[in-house]
Amino acid sequence: MSTIEVQPAMAKNAGSDLLLDVKDLRVTFSTPDGDVTAVNDLNFSLRAGETLGIVGESGSGKSQTAFALMGLLASNGRIEGSARFNGREILNLPEKQLNALRAEQVAMIFQDPMTSLNPYLRVGDQLMEVLQLHKGMSKAQAFEESVRMLDAVKMPEARKRMKMYPHEFSGGMRQRVMIAMALLCRPKLLIADEPTTALDVTVQAQIMTLLNELKREFNTAIIMITHDLGVVAGICNKVLVMYAGRTMEYGSARDVFYHPAHPYALGLLNAVPRLDTEGESLLTIPGNPPNLLRLPKGCPFQPRCPYAMEICAAAPPLEAFGEGRLRACFKPVEELV
Ligand SMILES: Nc1ncnc2c1ncn2[C@@H]1O[C@H](COP(=O)(O)OP(=O)(O)OP(=O)(O)O)[C@@H](O)[C@H]1O
Ligand SMILES: [Mg+2]
Repeated sequence: MSTIEVQPAMAKNAGSDLLLDVKDLRVTFSTPDGDVTAVNDLNFSLRAGETLGIVGESGSGKSQTAFALMGLLASNGRIEGSARFNGREILNLPEKQLNALRAEQVAMIFQDPMTSLNPYLRVGDQLMEVLQLHKGMSKAQAFEESVRMLDAVKMPEARKRMKMYPHEFSGGMRQRVMIAMALLCRPKLLIADEPTTALDVTVQAQIMTLLNELKREFNTAIIMITHDLGVVAGICNKVLVMYAGRTMEYGSARDVFYHPAHPYALGLLNAVPRLDTEGESLLTIPGNPPNLLRLPKGCPFQPRCPYAMEICAAAPPLEAFGEGRLRACFKPVEELV
């Protein structure tokens, strides 16, 4: 038995229109050594209340995908393609419109909460400021709403903690504050970039459970970025497996988790701890992700792939198969074990 419960894919008619529709998203950085394509023609979509996991090893382009959507790319980066949020294009928006979008519609949680919390200000003041600024609340209203949100993220003694400074909270508690802050304006989309990697396993599990509950309560769509396919299976409806900026596999969490159709997804899955293999050492994928300036010809995973064939020197196209699934691999699915 696996320790992980897999979320069902959402029914096809869940929600009406797409909340987010990303088409051919490409992020290229100019560097002194040449152009680097960190995100290469990604396509994915999300409905209200749905959770998409973006999974891949370090450097696969997960954060840059999120930064492109949030308008947070470094200045040497450029974005191509389209991302429609509630039908409206959000890529390359002017700063003023981006600020409004980030404040009210799309929120992001970062890996390290201290990057977003001001260490010199009381946590309560930081929460209240968001509501006073963006929701026009009075101080008293903002105080009550902030306490309510801290309660929602299961912060013990929320009222008392409003007066405390970030350093007085544990890592897990700070991450809860970040989640509360991100949800204050009731965003329609929450992007969580490895929100639990800095935390120990028990706290990680608590935060994941919390996000799952909050997603139901607030009907927020979530993009969950992680290198851990196990995390994704527990909270996501859909999964996008990325390698060297490209989609290797895309499908329902259930399909990708139980029947991975790409050797890279299979490799990531073998690295997920399970009850039935307790005590056995986990299999890691041999080798390292490629340098984007010197990508191998054809499939970028080819040099590390146990199934590599001669034909893989030509890039396998991303092809549809099964029920709403995509994969970029020449190896027949039934031959992957
Ligand atoms: N400003 C930049 N200039 C050049 N290359 C960049 C820049 N920012 C990011 N990159 C490159 O883009 C690639 C993808 O980076 P990204 O941060 O999206 O990885 P990631 O999948 O989030 O990895 P991690 O799991 O380590 O966070 C990396 O190879 C990185 O070196
Ligand atoms: Mg990252």
